[in-house]
Amino acid sequence: MSTARTSDLWWKNAVVYCLDVETYLDSDGDGCGDVEGLIERIDYLAGIGVSCLWLMPFYPSPNRDDGYDITDFYAVDPRLGSLGDVVTLIRTATDRGMRVIIDLVVNHTSDQHPWFKSSRRSKTSPHRNWYVWRDEPPAEPTADVVFPDAEDSIWTKDDKTGQWYLHHFYSHQPDLNIAHPAVREEVAKIAGFWLELGVSGFRVDAVPYLIETGGVPGDVDLDPHGFLKDLRAFMSRRRGDSVLLGEVNLPPRPLRAFFGDDQGDELQLLFGFPVMQAMYLALARRDARPLAEALEANPPIPPDCQWATFVRNHDELTLDQLSDDERQEVFDAFGPEPGMQLYGRGLRRRLPPMLDGDQQRMRMVYSLLFSLPGTPVLFYGEEIGMGENLDIEGRMSVRSPMQWTDEPTAGFSQAPPSKLRRPLPEGRFGPLAVNVTQQRRDTDSLMSWMERVIRRRRETPELGWGEATVLSTSEPAVLAHRSDWEDGSVVAVHNLGDEPCIVDIELACDPHSTLVDLLDSGVATHPVAGDRLELQLERYGYRWFRVQPPSGRSAP
Ligand code: BGC
Repeated sequence: MSTARTSDLWWKNAVVYCLDVETYLDSDGDGCGDVEGLIERIDYLAGIGVSCLWLMPFYPSPNRDDGYDITDFYAVDPRLGSLGDVVTLIRTATDRGMRVIIDLVVNHTSDQHPWFKSSRRSKTSPHRNWYVWRDEPPAEPTADVVFPDAEDSIWTKDDKTGQWYLHHFYSHQPDLNIAHPAVREEVAKIAGFWLELGVSGFRVDAVPYLIETGGVPGDVDLDPHGFLKDLRAFMSRRRGDSVLLGEVNLPPRPLRAFFGDDQGDELQLLFGFPVMQAMYLALARRDARPLAEALEANPPIPPDCQWATFVRNHDELTLDQLSDDERQEVFDAFGPEPGMQLYGRGLRRRLPPMLDGDQQRMRMVYSLLFSLPGTPVLFYGEEIGMGENLDIEGRMSVRSPMQWTDEPTAGFSQAPPSKLRRPLPEGRFGPLAVNVTQQRRDTDSLMSWMERVIRRRRETPELGWGEATVLSTSEPAVLAHRSDWEDGSVVAVHNLGDEPCIVDIELACDPHSTLVDLLDSGVATHPVAGDRLELQLERYGYRWFRVQPPSGRSAP
């Protein structure tokens, strides 16, 4: 096994941590997190084993979509800090061995962006064609509105010129016209600017919408994937190890297309939405088969590319790829009240309350996250089991401040609680019960467990680099998979059921091997009987094993 080979393609085995500066740590007591606060927590993040930070948008913004409505792509919102602060942050993170990627939100701008103000001024404005204008909206729109609670069309009429503009998201977020060469050049300029300041790449927002320009035939000369290939080539010229992580919520086949050709010349990382959604169905049923099927349905991916795996992110837990009945099963299990659901397709909850705080079950889910094929992405607060605050409107319920201590403001801010950027949850998942300070002193806490698992994950490159195979098991509740890379193999076993079981697994490995336990199950090694493994698992039990051939060298 050659660990030496793993550094160039660092994204194949990273541990990514997503956070929003404004909800992480407030250094100046105004109730809003800031870049200086985050810099104070860089050592915390390095300490839990994060290797790449993903920063949600910190650009100037009227904040009508939590910063995803941008008025200047080359600056920092003064509420959060300065450009100098961001460079210091990147520098400090780099020094502690962490890369930084940032959100690249170029499907749209805010309607307050100077480009849009100029564009809407007249049909002859130099920025007119930077956005997508039509005399009439197409009779059959190419897409549904993303936020059906707020919009009923992806086209809005602008009274000034009597034309309609395209916006896949809110009407205050007009879509940029990526078919326009000047817009493409500007996007490259934005990417180049931040690469120059030291970021390692971008999480690219809303990619399918970005390359879709309104579907009026005949007037757009755009090879959509050509744009992504050009952007990727540009980035690689500027910085060879830079990465594009795409938000593309599509079924496996169309999703695969965003990696590009056989060599992978578009986005290197794609969030694995189909597997994530199937995982929730499997959890709801306590039956591993939907997850096994989703893993098997994943097409092979180019060698330099990778899935980004996740349990939760900053948006609603979208279940739009499940059938109506399947989605209802997940709703019934994890978010039965209408106030927990959103847009008819998702849940505005974090994992721990969905699982009623069951520590064993939560750990099994995070063990899955760290062992399924891909690069794991954590959302801030997952390491301590934070819950959502359903009193906060819409998708923002999962974006409450980070819980550092058991104080009324959770150690997030010195401001009075009423002045916080968003209110903290109360009760079982509030800061009194769930916070970093208490968990770091407790070796049995979720956070201590998470640190150990992340460490093990980083020492187990087979999981990120290997080819994964789903193994057949005697128990429908149990998922077993094996990752093979070079001459090493790792086997992971997860019991999604709430009953203990004895499971028989077809390992298909050298019958004289030994299985070395990589987590802390208490049993260091297991013999393999023939090429099968009989294993006793607790309810929601999980194991990771390295397959050690008879003559193999053992690792700690
Ligand atoms: C982001 C959302 C955002 C939307 C519009 C998304 O897909 O994840 O949080 O509201 O893009 O930018």
